[in-house]
Amino acid sequence: MRTDRTLKLGLGAAVTLAAALCGGAEKQAPASGGVNRITVNVALPGVKVSPYLWGIFFEDINLSADGGIVPERVRNRSFEDGGKTEPWSAVADPAVGVELALDSDKPASAKNPHSLKVALSGAGGGRGGVANPGYYGMSLVKGERYRVSLLARAAAPFTGPLTVTLEGADGRVCAKGEIEGLTEAWATCPLTLTAAETDPAARLVITAAAPGTFWLDMVSVMPEKTWKGHGLRPDLCEMLAALRPAFMRFPGGCWVEGNTMAEAYRWKQTLGDLSERRTQYNLWQYHATHTLGYHEYLQLSEDLGAEPLFCINVGMSHKENVPMDQMAEYVQDALDAVEYANGPATSTWGALRAKAGHPAPFNLKFLEIGNENGGPAYHERYALFHDALKARYPEIRLIANDWHGLPTNRPLDIVDEHYYSTPEFFMRNAGKYDRYDRNGYKVFVGEYAVTRNTGTGSLRGALGEAAFMTGLERNADVVAMAAYAPLFVNVNHRKWNPNLINFDSSKAYGTPSYYVQKLFSEHAGATVLPAEVTSALTAGESLAGFVGVGTWSTQAEFKDIVVTGDGTTLFASDFSKDAKGWRLPKEGEWKTADGALRQLSDANGTCAVIGDKRWKNYTLTLKARKLGGQEGFLILFGLQNDAQKSWWNIGGWGNKRHAIEAGGIECPSVNGSIETGRWYDIKVELKDASVRCYLDGTLVHDVSAPALQALYASAALSKAGDEVIVKAVNVSAQPQAVRLQLNGVTGVQRAARVWTLTSADPMDENSISELTKVVPVETSLNIAGPSVEHTLPGNSLTVLRLNVSK
Ligand code: AHR
Repeated sequence: MRTDRTLKLGLGAAVTLAAALCGGAEKQAPASGGVNRITVNVALPGVKVSPYLWGIFFEDINLSADGGIVPERVRNRSFEDGGKTEPWSAVADPAVGVELALDSDKPASAKNPHSLKVALSGAGGGRGGVANPGYYGMSLVKGERYRVSLLARAAAPFTGPLTVTLEGADGRVCAKGEIEGLTEAWATCPLTLTAAETDPAARLVITAAAPGTFWLDMVSVMPEKTWKGHGLRPDLCEMLAALRPAFMRFPGGCWVEGNTMAEAYRWKQTLGDLSERRTQYNLWQYHATHTLGYHEYLQLSEDLGAEPLFCINVGMSHKENVPMDQMAEYVQDALDAVEYANGPATSTWGALRAKAGHPAPFNLKFLEIGNENGGPAYHERYALFHDALKARYPEIRLIANDWHGLPTNRPLDIVDEHYYSTPEFFMRNAGKYDRYDRNGYKVFVGEYAVTRNTGTGSLRGALGEAAFMTGLERNADVVAMAAYAPLFVNVNHRKWNPNLINFDSSKAYGTPSYYVQKLFSEHAGATVLPAEVTSALTAGESLAGFVGVGTWSTQAEFKDIVVTGDGTTLFASDFSKDAKGWRLPKEGEWKTADGALRQLSDANGTCAVIGDKRWKNYTLTLKARKLGGQEGFLILFGLQNDAQKSWWNIGGWGNKRHAIEAGGIECPSVNGSIETGRWYDIKVELKDASVRCYLDGTLVHDVSAPALQALYASAALSKAGDEVIVKAVNVSAQPQAVRLQLNGVTGVQRAARVWTLTSADPMDENSISELTKVVPVETSLNIAGPSVEHTLPGNSLTVLRLNVSK
């Protein structure tokens, strides 16, 4: 998991990267006299918009597969969730005793060794058994039919019956069925139940009314209605379809890598009958059942009309790599994955595809070799995959990872770049691809999203992405493909933030970013048109967020930490007893002593943090003393998450220099060092986009995040050549009047169609309680001729479609 590309580069490099990537200025010069202009040259059409430009990236993260697009209501249905019975629980009337235990006697299959043993005791005729709440509540819809199936057996003389109910949150029975005639052998027991009530938080209850022992396995409750009859949740699939994705990358992400090779994603373990599929720990903190297996991902891609793009493990995980002399199996996996997708039904793997219900090939065209893998270990493994795949399937386009240096030992077709950062990072990089080599490899921006200073998905974040996307569209000759990441989150299991589509058991909504993706994809156009933008400037990134203290290869102590803002004290430290309220990292050795917080290890970049993400315009004061080690102090400010390295580095670079290292700020370092054993007075003042840093009362830095262009735009010609499509982003808070000039047209039809995405506050979001607070609104605009003035609302994306004659 990498939340910010700059973080991976380590100390010192972050500032360089931000500077190196700063861009767009040559195409988007500041306006003179405050005049905004977008001039589109229709007579000079440029490159074709890549037909694969806008796609989606489906990772099994945040319960996006199980508990998400897979509508299986039962969680831990096969009792293989890492030796746990949860979330199953006992149900017992007062006189009944219920004992639940995982059991591995008589496994239903070798791949599914555990079942649930339910032992009921006690007289009294009450009910006893088990209940399952699903993934944070099961959704039932009145009148809908649900297929219940389970494997059951019993210890003689008990033969049942078992009563199967779907019960509402208040205990009301919404549907009921019975299973009888249990024997000592496993038997499949299917039932179809119709819900008499709607309830988003129902549960499954399986009980008996007599003492006895029975076993359950592969317990499933599936709605009869699924998207296109292919077993997936309709509302979520419809939301994907509305994006009109040109491709779908799957199944991850870090999920492909796993923490260790034992946790890595191996597609062959995801085929066949559900009880035969591997259940495995997913590093996004749950067990995956692979109900959405390789076949189902291919099927979903086909149903969406999207090209499948499979990302395969390259023999590397987060913590370990497969030795080079054992790589043959992994390379063979890649060859077989292509055969499964594309081979004839008579081939070994093609036959399995046909058996799974798809005799025709899926026509896989793209294969990504690894995810976020890099360095020499990646390069030598990439070469193995490259050579084997090119020899056998030269038509497959291979995607290489760009992570700490590209492989240079083989020619590259397509390279996958990932970006996660602030809204302003994306705005500053709207011109990044203007400067790429036109004759090199193609770029796949395989993961990008505003992840900082954006809540759980704000309009401001979406506009940062929209500004960046104008640059992707404009450079379609370089950028072949792009996908926002991640796609889905079950709001009850948010392990990554933000995500494009949020859902619970019954509702779903798109973030403002979703609507940006949708607008760009719906209005992609066919040919890029040169668009020159002259724009006003707007203030740089406002610094907001909590504070912290840290060290790099240094031992130090900190005390009297005070944050004041707006005339009030927001925080004052008290280390007299402990560090209550502080979030202390695992790395490092943090403790309190003598009224101070001490860090006593050699750890690099270990930081303790405290406060509120909403703090802004504040002054942070503290005292710090170096106790030993290589450098000085790290004073953190403007933090939006605990992992953010946004700090004043005092005595960094081997205790030689001081500099601010925070996204968006270019701060020249100054000479300086920290003495051991001496208390220093430190002060950091944040005011909007400016930071002032004082050491012992002396002003050391006075810097501001640079001003940004207010406007970003791209233009394209429709396939029929009769419409000019302009996408214009205004990231400033003020409405911007813009002169839109179309050169090279003889006429423009009077009524233009316009879609505007905006809201009262740039931090506005959609939510489960307000699904559509920030959505695009369609209007029309009267056009008098090829030059028109239009006001772009503050904080907005506007798409204009103008009918033209040339
Ligand atoms: O998109 C979330 C994660 O971000 C992906 O798993 C990984 O590839 C990246 O670090």
